[in-house]
Amino acid sequence: MSTLTTAPLPALLARLFAEAEAKRPELEDLPADELHTLMHSKTGYLDLYTRLKDFALPVSPETGRLLYMLARSSQAKTIVEFGTSFGLSTLHLAAALRDNGGGRLITCEFEPSKVAIARKNLQDGGLLDLVEIRVGDALQTLSSDLPEQIDLVLLDGAKPLYPAILDLLRSRLKAGALIVADNADHSPEYLERVRSAHGGYLSLPFADDVELSLRTG
Ligand SMILES: C[S@@+](CC[C@H](N)C(=O)[O-])C[C@H]1O[C@@H](n2cnc3c(N)ncnc32)[C@H](O)[C@@H]1O
Repeated sequence: MSTLTTAPLPALLARLFAEAEAKRPELEDLPADELHTLMHSKTGYLDLYTRLKDFALPVSPETGRLLYMLARSSQAKTIVEFGTSFGLSTLHLAAALRDNGGGRLITCEFEPSKVAIARKNLQDGGLLDLVEIRVGDALQTLSSDLPEQIDLVLLDGAKPLYPAILDLLRSRLKAGALIVADNADHSPEYLERVRSAHGGYLSLPFADDVELSLRTG
């Protein structure tokens, strides 16, 4: 038995992914140079994601399943997520925590309307008790009160902040901790860091849109 494949999760996730697919942002409508600036700017991210506040922007269903499998197989107890949105990835990670016998998932979102939706989805999934949603800019909310040890990280907020968020978490990552970075190709600085021969990580692109890294020590 797995929480991911037992009611209410399958129907809830199917509905949430279907709703997200039916309501995707028309980013193509933005001029290409404006989109590039917003995606790669270390200051424009609040503007970009405020414009996107009505969109779920979830990881793919495959990445969601991968997150569950990685958290489950590594017996993760402490997970940090950067970028909650409507909580689809959060549901997968919290389901793994439940099946690992419990734990703590800290997730971050600055848009209050999204926090309310994520909270409702986690409540509907019966997983809210495992999740602490930190409301505000993750650069601030992850700068204090971190767990002694972090077993798994999902990076899925503003791409230009991936290196800075990794810096905040780095000293707490256990040897063997896994870091999943969604759409990390938008953060060349992050890729350079985790792929560096002497950076303390083993890393590889996993599928089209995920960089999977392991903290070596
Ligand atoms: C791609 S979505 C996350 C999708 C979510 N992980 C899922 O799979 O359902 C990115 C989210 O990160 C939030 N975000 C971006 N930068 C942030 C920051 N600096 N602090 C907190 N939240 C941030 C955005 O508002 C947006 O909701």
